[in-house]
Amino acid sequence: MDASQEDPSQMPTAHRVALLARDDRPFHVILAQQFDRELIHTLCRLAERVRVIAETRQGANFLRTLLSHKRAMLYFIQPSTRTFLSFSAACQILGLSNNEVRDSSTSSEVKGESEEDTVRVLSQYFDVIIMRHPGEGFAESIAHKLNHMRRSIPIINGGSGKDQHPTQALLDIYTLHRNFSPAGPGGVIRAFEDNPFAGKTVAFAGDLARGRTVRSLVYLLCRYPGVRLLFVAPDELQIHEDILEHVGQQNIEHELCGSLPDVVADCDAIYMTRLQDEHDLAGESKKINLEDFRLDAAMKDRFKPKLAILHPLPRRKELDVRLDTDPRAKYWEQVRNGMWMRAALLAFVFNVDGAIIDHHHSHYSH
Ligand code: NCD
Repeated sequence: MDASQEDPSQMPTAHRVALLARDDRPFHVILAQQFDRELIHTLCRLAERVRVIAETRQGANFLRTLLSHKRAMLYFIQPSTRTFLSFSAACQILGLSNNEVRDSSTSSEVKGESEEDTVRVLSQYFDVIIMRHPGEGFAESIAHKLNHMRRSIPIINGGSGKDQHPTQALLDIYTLHRNFSPAGPGGVIRAFEDNPFAGKTVAFAGDLARGRTVRSLVYLLCRYPGVRLLFVAPDELQIHEDILEHVGQQNIEHELCGSLPDVVADCDAIYMTRLQDEHDLAGESKKINLEDFRLDAAMKDRFKPKLAILHPLPRRKELDVRLDTDPRAKYWEQVRNGMWMRAALLAFVFNVDGAIIDHHHSHYSH
């Protein structure tokens, strides 16, 4: 069988990661397992620099020159607000012009063209395809197929079915790093600690069975020995076995829990998620009692003073709006961090990260 036809999910992870890389760095961004601790820190530092440089007109103008010769396609055929808009804003920051397909009923797929051919066509016009797709393995399999095309461009996964959302996990871990690393003047983090999560407890609450952001973030957190993970969900929505197996193999301490109020006082970070009932056409999961998986303002007196509350959003009732103004609520910051992290990631994929580092060094280090 031609290598491009193999099912990637059946391959060992190291092989999958290698097929997505060029010159020892991610070329396509599909899986959270592509990011080790060093790479996560490189991207956090880069995001921090982009954020600082973008503050002045002169800095923003410099950033806009970096990818002004490139074009991005945002192929988002599943609903999205934040991921779509933050990628679009990240493109603008770097001068990368962008175009979108958000509804496959407006493409030649209605004339019988396969989705794969549609993406192959897009790859002839654009220099990167950022993709959100309901199919779990679609982004990865198309990345492999593009590897065999003469014009081969990067695919970035902006959410693949119930499986992964690696760029969300990067912005989540960036938000956690910012919370646990001491800020310098102007709130800028001068040095990200190597492992600020050792000895810390991170709880994931809600629909862990179908929340792709949780799955990707767990892979990243497993790069930090000494972190303790709590999976807080009703039995029907508990995290899947493949993730638990990975956590176990990495010797990460973890527990399955059946009630958020019971563990809230233990947590240094809580990652809330909504019920993902769009995956449940029969509506069965709507009947699950989620009362014990809500974060309520009445629990505030049990929160640690430096607790970080995260949510990938959109939220429903699982996260009390009365917590929005509490300094421990990090979810609005998390949204903004996504824009900087996605700009950093695009700069990294296009190899202009060195120019950002040089610019930062010559203008901001004294
Ligand atoms: C998440 C997603 O799409 O997986 N949203 C996002 O990208 N911020 C979470 C969700 O939809 O619940």
